[in-house]
Amino acid sequence: MVSLDEVHKNNASLKDYGPNLVAVFVGGTSGIGEATARAFVRDTLSPRVFLVGRNEAQASKIIEELRQLNPAGQLSFVKCDAARLQSVDEACKVIQAKEEKINLLFLSAGILTTKGRDETDEGLDKKLSLHYYSRMRFINNFLPQLTNAGTVAEDSTPAKPGLRRNLASAVSVLEAGGESPINLDDLSLKTTYSLRNAAKHAITMTSLSMQELAVSHPEVSFVHAYPGVVKTGIMREFGTITRVAMSAMFILAKPWMVPLNESGDRHLYAATSPRFPPRASNGGGDVAPGADGAKGSGAYLLHWDGSTAGNQKVLQDYRENETGKLVWKHTVGVFGSICGRAGLLED
Ligand SMILES: NC(=O)c1ccc[n+]([C@@H]2O[C@H](COP(=O)([O-])OP(=O)(O)OC[C@H]3O[C@@H](n4cnc5c(N)ncnc54)[C@H](OP(=O)(O)O)[C@@H]3O)[C@@H](O)[C@H]2O)c1
Repeated sequence: MVSLDEVHKNNASLKDYGPNLVAVFVGGTSGIGEATARAFVRDTLSPRVFLVGRNEAQASKIIEELRQLNPAGQLSFVKCDAARLQSVDEACKVIQAKEEKINLLFLSAGILTTKGRDETDEGLDKKLSLHYYSRMRFINNFLPQLTNAGTVAEDSTPAKPGLRRNLASAVSVLEAGGESPINLDDLSLKTTYSLRNAAKHAITMTSLSMQELAVSHPEVSFVHAYPGVVKTGIMREFGTITRVAMSAMFILAKPWMVPLNESGDRHLYAATSPRFPPRASNGGGDVAPGADGAKGSGAYLLHWDGSTAGNQKVLQDYRENETGKLVWKHTVGVFGSICGRAGLLED
């Protein structure tokens, strides 16, 4: 477990990167995304921050509060229904028109629902899209900007103690450690949908795809994080009775819950600590093992407390069978069928 002192020390050192770090929070209008955006704005110099979501009124309120926290910050809202990949592309274009580099892409847009398969007009299940395809589409679209942020000029000064050389991270908040066998013949769950399968597929495909991306984009650090139990707005789609029952459960679970502010601080740590460097950094020192078990391999699966997660039994089998390549190929295929060739990387 990483102590809160260590988390705070790391986050306080982010000012040493100097001004103008750029961060995009998809899901920054509530919960863990909002709390992490708050920590980022508080702990950086003149940051440029984009909150991406649907709720404009909520975003305006948060932006007002963030301005008071750091008046030098440039904060904006980008409206986007992130369950639709074509809307993701539009949101990315808005941000790409303003920024050449992105230091932190934080992905926490999601829903808790008991509905069965619920297709968007693009033919993906809404929950599976929000938790997996849409997040991967944001990452895929922003790879050039993340790579720019993570590329170290040969004549650049050495890293200050306690900092990475450059900051370039993509973080997806879901359930690292929950990887389990998936249906390789129906990855998007067209015919074998269930809520359990949707969770298994989103979690396992995230952990596998991040390992592929860490190899193809070694300047960027990829993190799949499990937040623990955090009281947020995630129950908003439930009816009153379920919400009351879940609130009662939250009261009972309080001793094991992660306070929202702490969750924001810990996710900022996960996104920025030199313990989780990009693959190219060859960083010595106290570097964590990546998803493949090798130290510093660029894709990290983390528990709420910053310790290493990941169901290695499942992941090891999938590594041996090169399932990550199959999953990424499928993912790029889905992008192509919905968005055309625009924004696709060489596959
Ligand atoms: N909280 C927990 O205990 C917990 C535990 C395990 C995993 N998780 C996972 O962590 C992630 C974050 O959860 P949270 O607790 O922070 O939830 P939250 O407070 O409900 O925040 C979810 C965010 O997702 C955004 N969102 C939902 N649907 C969207 C859509 N169609 N388009 C764009 N944005 C959308 C919401 O923004 P708008 O309303 O503005 O669209 C909101 O900012 C979720 O994936 C959740 O499954 C949470």
